[in-house]
Amino acid sequence: MIGVFDSGHGGLTILSELCATLPQQKFIYLADHAHAPYGSRPGPEIYEFTRCSVERLFEIGCRLVILACNTASTIALHRLQTEWLATHWPKNRILGVIVPTIEAITGVTWLARHRTVPERVGHVERTAIHAPRVVGVFATPATVRSQVYPIEIARRAPRIRVVQQACRELVGQIENGATRKQMAATIKADAGELASNLGGDRLDAILLGCTHFPLVRDLFEAEIDDGIDLVSQPRQVALALVDYLQRRPEFAGTPDGGAATGIDKCTLFTSGDPADVSMRAGQLFGRSLAFQALPG
Ligand code: DGL
Repeated sequence: MIGVFDSGHGGLTILSELCATLPQQKFIYLADHAHAPYGSRPGPEIYEFTRCSVERLFEIGCRLVILACNTASTIALHRLQTEWLATHWPKNRILGVIVPTIEAITGVTWLARHRTVPERVGHVERTAIHAPRVVGVFATPATVRSQVYPIEIARRAPRIRVVQQACRELVGQIENGATRKQMAATIKADAGELASNLGGDRLDAILLGCTHFPLVRDLFEAEIDDGIDLVSQPRQVALALVDYLQRRPEFAGTPDGGAATGIDKCTLFTSGDPADVSMRAGQLFGRSLAFQALPG
């Protein structure tokens, strides 16, 4: 059993791709809708909410948890891995979404910059974005503030210029069921702000650096010129998990006899109101999704 965590609906975009890529694997999803959006919260709060949710997934029996959330991965993952896991859950592991994304953009593995000859991993070669020079990143205010994408991309591929855009409204709108017209207007304004910071450069690639944003991918595409690559974070995360489980099969769990064929077959937990969350998730995905409250 592998746990997948996000603040809200966004991680379902990752879960969906994980189910498609690893159909035998059993996934359990937990969304902290009660505290979403995370992206406008202070770091210590994001850390604590993330830690509590990961702990719930561990208690349910997941030994591996994917933080399907850029904000939680950026703010909480390193500290959870280096301080908390060792003391409280030494046999368990937590992975995030930032590393596979940066590997795909730069074409360089996470550890390669410590070696003399850069090494390219299989999943990067299969899906690498073609040598982008200018990458636009749409993300939450907390992810943008952390500078994780500009800093880590520059370490591996200094030739790439990263232009970030903090999207202040969009996650809240997605969570609260705003109309497509309202969200289109927000995305137009965010895309316009990013464009005004390009200083004459032309974008080669766009990263939707928040797992909520692929839910309105078409609205972003409407604002993006033809020929610009849109980096698919769910695909990169799924391929990275395949690589990880090949190296660490002990975290794969027992195959589920083909039961998990899609997100509607996964167990979906929420810290929010299950009926309300199920209704909104169903609207976003166009199929019935049944969230339940966390056990006791
Ligand atoms: N979906 C999350 C992300 O990828 C967080 C959104 C939020 O709660 O602000 O950043």
